[in-house]
Amino acid sequence: MSAEQRADLAISARGIEKSFKGLHVLRGVDLDVRAGSIVALLGSNGAGKTTLVRILSTLTAADAGTAMVNGFDVASEGRAVRSSISLTGQYAAIDERLSGRENLVLVARLRHVPDPRATADDLLRRFALSEAGGRKAGEYSGGMRRRLDIAMSLVGDPAVVFLDEPTTGLDPQSRGEVWETVRRLADGGTTVLLTTQYLDEAEQLAERIAVLHEGTIIQYGTLAELKRLLLPTEVEYVEKQPSLEDVFLALVGSGATTRGGSL
Ligand SMILES: Nc1ncnc2c1ncn2[C@@H]1O[C@H](COP(=O)(O)OP(=O)(O)O)[C@@H](O)[C@H]1O
Ligand SMILES: [Mg+2]
Repeated sequence: MSAEQRADLAISARGIEKSFKGLHVLRGVDLDVRAGSIVALLGSNGAGKTTLVRILSTLTAADAGTAMVNGFDVASEGRAVRSSISLTGQYAAIDERLSGRENLVLVARLRHVPDPRATADDLLRRFALSEAGGRKAGEYSGGMRRRLDIAMSLVGDPAVVFLDEPTTGLDPQSRGEVWETVRRLADGGTTVLLTTQYLDEAEQLAERIAVLHEGTIIQYGTLAELKRLLLPTEVEYVEKQPSLEDVFLALVGSGATTRGGSL
């Protein structure tokens, strides 16, 4: 890979391994994410998605391998990595007693942003929360809370945003709202690595999809590339295009159970 190509990568991981008490969760993960793109890390429950995201965001140390995020080494330059990323987990970091605006101002103050109020108002606008901004976050719908949570993670304009299962537990309408939010993020140049166990989410959002299975990325490509993996056997007899679900099940075997598009 040329130096130019490397500079274009927001995330570059090689040979990442991680075990928990004899459980070998990550067994040599390689992953490159181009700056400004949305990549979905797709895997069943327990595949190791959160573990990988925690390693890339410096919360957990890998047992082996190297990873660069925004040009910084996660092992030796943790501070620099942390100041250029944000991580939003499945469980919102919102203070329910405060209004949406107050939550944002609080985070902006903690991160020493020059003008916390202006930052809060700007983010409320970007996430279509201006009207709700004065209301207690505890009264927000699931979709509004998740949007506020993502907005809070964007205070200070991190170049890379990790979204760990951003829509798990949301109703369909709220999921759609969060998808819209994520798309706009990437349109603005932010790199997004999201984990999901929903095939339709990966299909909807991601430029490229990385399938994490039994400790490694077993496939990484665009949706079209992943679908092409199945074409030789499918086109002869079947008119329909394979869905990502067909591809996923063919890749990981039918051991994974699917229900309503979830794995
Ligand atoms: N801190 C930990 N201690 C022990 N086991 C863990 C720890 N974190 C994760 N695991 C185990 O590692 C595996 C992968 O977990 P995780 O990364 O959370 O998967 P995913 O996010 O894909 O559902 C699971 O079997 C989980 O129980
Ligand atoms: Mg997880």
